Amino acid sequence: MKKLRAEYAEMASHGYKLNMARGVLSKAQLELTQDMLTALVTPDQCCTESGTDCRNYGLLDGIPEAKRLMADILGIQPHKVIVGGNSSLNLMYDAVARNLLFGTEDVKEPWAKQGKIKFICPVPGYDRHFAICEALGIEMINVDLLDDGPDMDAVEKLVSSDPQIKGMWCVPKYSNPTGTVYSDKVIRRIASLKPAAKDFRVFWDNAYVVHSLYGEPAKQLEILAEAEKQGNPNMIYEFASTSKISFPGSGVAVIASSPENIEEIKHRMGVQTIGHDKLNQMRHVRYFKNMDGIREHMKEHAAIIAPKFKLVTDTLKRELDGLDIARWTEPEGGYFVSLDIYIGSASRVYILMSELGVTLTPAGATFPYHLDPNDRNLRIAPTFPPIDELKIACDALCLCVRIAALERLRHHKK
Ligand SMILES: Cc1ncc(COP(=O)(O)O)c(C=O)c1O
Repeated sequence: MKKLRAEYAEMASHGYKLNMARGVLSKAQLELTQDMLTALVTPDQCCTESGTDCRNYGLLDGIPEAKRLMADILGIQPHKVIVGGNSSLNLMYDAVARNLLFGTEDVKEPWAKQGKIKFICPVPGYDRHFAICEALGIEMINVDLLDDGPDMDAVEKLVSSDPQIKGMWCVPKYSNPTGTVYSDKVIRRIASLKPAAKDFRVFWDNAYVVHSLYGEPAKQLEILAEAEKQGNPNMIYEFASTSKISFPGSGVAVIASSPENIEEIKHRMGVQTIGHDKLNQMRHVRYFKNMDGIREHMKEHAAIIAPKFKLVTDTLKRELDGLDIARWTEPEGGYFVSLDIYIGSASRVYILMSELGVTLTPAGATFPYHLDPNDRNLRIAPTFPPIDELKIACDALCLCVRIAALERLRHHKK
């Protein structure tokens, strides 16, 4: 312990200011799409193929070219999508709020008038999903995220027996934070759920659908078609965006669902807005052109961020392998590494890291109500820092994990 403490003191003397808290694009990644900003210069370039001037009002559900591009990204037909503003999280919040206020296509009674409603939350998961539930007064039920997706035995049991369960969050590909890719078997089981609530909805957040680190993105069953096949055509809302393809500050987001749901959403959305930013949609279409353009572009992102993921997992392996105090994921895509450390020590590591000047995602953030029952999960976001800073942050992390584990072990012995 003395040696570890000395190492810690040495690190602290540098006064670092490093951040690996959130899945943010690095400057090099942002620069990949800089030329998109000059894709619309002439008035002609601002017009769609059917002649709509994107500078003007119109086309609530998006320009046809952008609907096609976003549908291609999701592997579905354009009539199942609405292209929104720059944030898919915004579309998710609105989808939950809409059902709370107005009910669904299947049950007109608003969720908010049906007593205490609940959502299933696979854990560890995405903190902002949980924040939506918390803000809107929806009770959250943890279900373990296994290697091939949520624990479906638990999900089926809960969903089929409790009519107050109205929703479930899913990040089906390269999950935040574990990098989990749902298997087709799990996807089929989700699509064929038999919910006790006729207005149960799956929030299928496909945020990392094309975000592979190594080669082609994983292939998966297409959930909307599968749910339709299983007699659940309206059960799925799918979401995605180009936040981590182009710009998180100015990307294009999409919601996809059955044509019936899409009509209902458009009807409600038409009261909120006359239309989203079509110039931005057009910029994306002119820049990427089609799915081949997206694929090629994602390889450039991968070339920048894959070495950062490798640095994280190599460091964890070198420093912590065999000590029996940590295990971590080695994702094939997405934006995070999930690190499970010695039970009861995650919040201590967060503090130790903060005192060294390294900001981590707070311990507990990957669980509803910020409550990690074992206080052991940490989410590592390696994309933002330059590689030399990331190296320092990873060394610091391993050191803090070892110190915190030793502290816990000593505490147990007392
Ligand atoms: C799973 C997941 N969904 C959604 C988002 C945010 O998406 P958007 O920028 O489109 O709002 C993130 C960002 O980290 C994410 O990890």
